[in-house]
Amino acid sequence: MNPLIQSVLQYRPTDTWIQAQSGLAWLALDIDVPCTQIAQEAAQIFDQRVEHRDQDNVLGYHNQGWHSLCLHGESATATSSDQGTMTWTPIADKCPVTTEFIQTYWDTGVCGRIRFMWLAPGGYIMPHQDRKDPQLFECNIAIEHPANCKVQFLDYGQIPFESGRAFIIDTSHRHFAINQSDSWRLHMIVHADLKPGILRRSYEKSFYS
Ligand SMILES: [Fe+2]
Repeated sequence: MNPLIQSVLQYRPTDTWIQAQSGLAWLALDIDVPCTQIAQEAAQIFDQRVEHRDQDNVLGYHNQGWHSLCLHGESATATSSDQGTMTWTPIADKCPVTTEFIQTYWDTGVCGRIRFMWLAPGGYIMPHQDRKDPQLFECNIAIEHPANCKVQFLDYGQIPFESGRAFIIDTSHRHFAINQSDSWRLHMIVHADLKPGILRRSYEKSFYS
């Protein structure tokens, strides 16, 4: 065979290229989410949640109804802090299925916050960007996602969330969220590297199948 063709036959996108160079605003993750069991565990610690970023000020407006708890972080209630020593919190002890799910797909050896994120009925998150440098990084998993809830990029449109779907997203792009239902919305956000191969599998499934 033509040696050049032979060499390019072996070429596949790497996890690093997909994350840093693909230019995607989001990518659906090819993982299985036990959202019914995770929702049951989250319901048991729901009353420990704290308001999250309710002091953010966007043109005089504030986020409404955004609540959180850390399974992994500086503490269970340090939901905004990405400083300090990050460890599993007592919330993780109370949520064993959720913790096992995370450890199945993410490398939690050295990682940042892993949180439950609730959005109240009628709640919203004002448009914002979380960082400057573009790349896919934050993983956002819909556990209970009622109809009429949206997470939307101003320049790229709405992420097609539904309960049980997970995405790695680029939060350097402006985005907002709104819950126009009468139920609480529950997502998780994971600041950790996916285990090797998951990004490539997810990317190839999105584009080639
Ligand atoms: Fe954000």
